[in-house]
Amino acid sequence: MGCGGHDGRRSHSDGGLDMNAPAKSRYREVYEGWKADPQGFWAKAAREIDWERPADKVFDPEAGIYGRWFVGAQCNACFNAVDRHVERGRADQAAILYDSPVTGSKRAITYAELQEETATLAAVLRELGVGKGDRVVIYMPMIPEAVIAMLACARIGAIHSVVFGGFAAKELATRIDDCAPKVILSASCGIEVSRVVAYKPLLDEAIALALHKPQACLILQRPQAEADLRPGRDRDWAITVAAAKSAGKRADCVPVAATDPLYILYTSGTTGRPKGVVRDTGGYLVALKWSMKGLYGVESGEVYWCASDVGWVVGHSYIVYGPLLHGCTSVLYEGKPVGTPDAGAFWRVISEHGAVALFTAPTAFRAIKKEDPDGRLMRNYDLSKFRTLFLAGERADPDTVRWAEDKLGVPVIDHWWQTETGWAIAGNPVGLGALPVKYGSPTVPMPGYDLQILDEGAKPVAANTMGTIAVKLPLPPGCLPTLWNADDRFRESYLATFPGYYNTSDAGFLDEDGYVYVMGRTDDIINVAGHRLSTGGMEEVLASHPSVAECAVIGIKDELKGEVPCGFVVLKSGVSTPPNVVEGELIALVREKIGPVAAFKLAITVGRLPKTRSGKILRGTMKKIADGDPWTMPATIDDPAILDEIATALKEKGVAARI
Ligand code: COA
Ligand code: AMP
Repeated sequence: MGCGGHDGRRSHSDGGLDMNAPAKSRYREVYEGWKADPQGFWAKAAREIDWERPADKVFDPEAGIYGRWFVGAQCNACFNAVDRHVERGRADQAAILYDSPVTGSKRAITYAELQEETATLAAVLRELGVGKGDRVVIYMPMIPEAVIAMLACARIGAIHSVVFGGFAAKELATRIDDCAPKVILSASCGIEVSRVVAYKPLLDEAIALALHKPQACLILQRPQAEADLRPGRDRDWAITVAAAKSAGKRADCVPVAATDPLYILYTSGTTGRPKGVVRDTGGYLVALKWSMKGLYGVESGEVYWCASDVGWVVGHSYIVYGPLLHGCTSVLYEGKPVGTPDAGAFWRVISEHGAVALFTAPTAFRAIKKEDPDGRLMRNYDLSKFRTLFLAGERADPDTVRWAEDKLGVPVIDHWWQTETGWAIAGNPVGLGALPVKYGSPTVPMPGYDLQILDEGAKPVAANTMGTIAVKLPLPPGCLPTLWNADDRFRESYLATFPGYYNTSDAGFLDEDGYVYVMGRTDDIINVAGHRLSTGGMEEVLASHPSVAECAVIGIKDELKGEVPCGFVVLKSGVSTPPNVVEGELIALVREKIGPVAAFKLAITVGRLPKTRSGKILRGTMKKIADGDPWTMPATIDDPAILDEIATALKEKGVAARI
């Protein structure tokens, strides 16, 4: 399928403000250098990391499923992120700047303090029986203790698995059962704009639902909602840590193999069962360290702000590990782009802390633009240190990019990646000299990624032709070596469709200059406010309702969140409950089973679902109708009249009016 003339494809050089242009970029030279000698490239990058033992092989193609990076090497992620900076002159520099408009508090934590806190919590974990290779689940809001918890695990070689606070008990239970943690670290509550979310009842319910039971839970009491602690299992975080401190207990960094897992991070798959993405240690450290300068153009000692959540991959890589590995000061923001207290919140944080870069999702900027379309609130703040805005997590729509460029007057850099990759697949390498921006494109592949656009027969297609975006194996350092306890699922999900390639499950094309365009998923994953969700998982929940005969969930366009889920249900015959009551129950059920993060607020009862003659639900066509996009009648449709019924049902729910 050709796709020339896509509306977003206009470069700065086509007219208008040319903010990035003349500075010559070293990108081509660096990328070609990597291609000519991949191992040499990564061996050089690895010099930025402190190793306990060097690698026997930079890359071993015989190890693991598609090869492994830095085989034979030993290192420690916490040492590289914290201790080495204390030893080398950054002891008094702020490592973390916690800024929490939702609680009205701020706290700076120096590298020396971070080392002290981390070593103490690591000692507490040890006493709770956690050792190298053991799993620890972290279910916490955006507070410094969440970062300390991650680093404390890394310090003793334990594998952390952070679960985002917006997930419900059942999702947490699934993750507990999959990774079988010895200990769970949590807090009594999280704080949203208009409500306090009590975490502890969710945690208790999750542990009750899970077959695996942790030996202990360490609970940080927050004054906004203190939790009841269960004798025997639960311990008060502050009391336990204070006791360890006064007894002088500290744990040292434990060397681990570069190929040992640093963490497991669950992400949506095509079913309700999430995938446990495994991140190994050595390659991740090397790739992140390279990216801080090469991609983000940030220097050690500067203030870097990633406004995501530690529960997402972006938070793991660029709130915690990336900036700390690089000796930066990382801003930890417990708030929202709007409503805490207003759409000037981001500008306040940038100016107050002197951030040189902000990394967030386009949806955050859409929210700000909606509340403050002229960017008036920006004028109240000194943004002189701010150099670059980075966007990722979903497609950056050209309107939002243009608005941000225009109002901020700095380059706006879209970059594309996935939980699986751990860092950017494609981006505009500011540190190597930015390339001209083309709206709608996250620019070019990063060193390490050989991107190919493949057709259904796994053949590379010509420039400007749509296909599936695949990465020629091996994946670079930092990317997943496998899924937790699921090598076969890893092969099946990512490697089987195109032998010799990693299937990103994103569709797109490369243009004649090698710029990549990422247009959408090829599977049933949707992207809601930068959060990745499985429509298959939501269908499983809807289908579990006793009144539902069949259902289909699609992602439909939303001005603010990019996409929102919309569920169509056919009720069982004989159901006497009015459809609007069932719809309300379904909305509540998804919130209860998956969590508020699913943003499932639209359930529509229909008489029947459109299907092909072989019984496949025509989700793609339903989406086009809901989005108001042009569509053609599928040749294989069983009964064309059903599509009119869908259109009418959408209209009755006011969906057409929302777009
Ligand atoms: N704990 C508990 N609940 C949470 C939560 C958390 N950590 N995070 C979000 N939620 C809840 C929200 O309160 C909301 O609940 P509601 O249905 O009662 O309103 C629901 O989950 C959906 O949250 P969200 O999608 O974040 O929408 P929002 O309306 O609260 O905010 C934006 C909209 C655009 C401001 C917000 O999505 C945002 O800042 N997005 C940035 C995205 C991002 O950081 N992505 C990470 C990848 S870079
Ligand atoms: P996650 O694993 O949650 O980071 O989500 C990854 C998915 O988000 C990708 O597979 C893409 O579909 C989408 N995505 C992330 N960043 C971008 C981007 N810059 N442009 C387009 N899609 C993106």
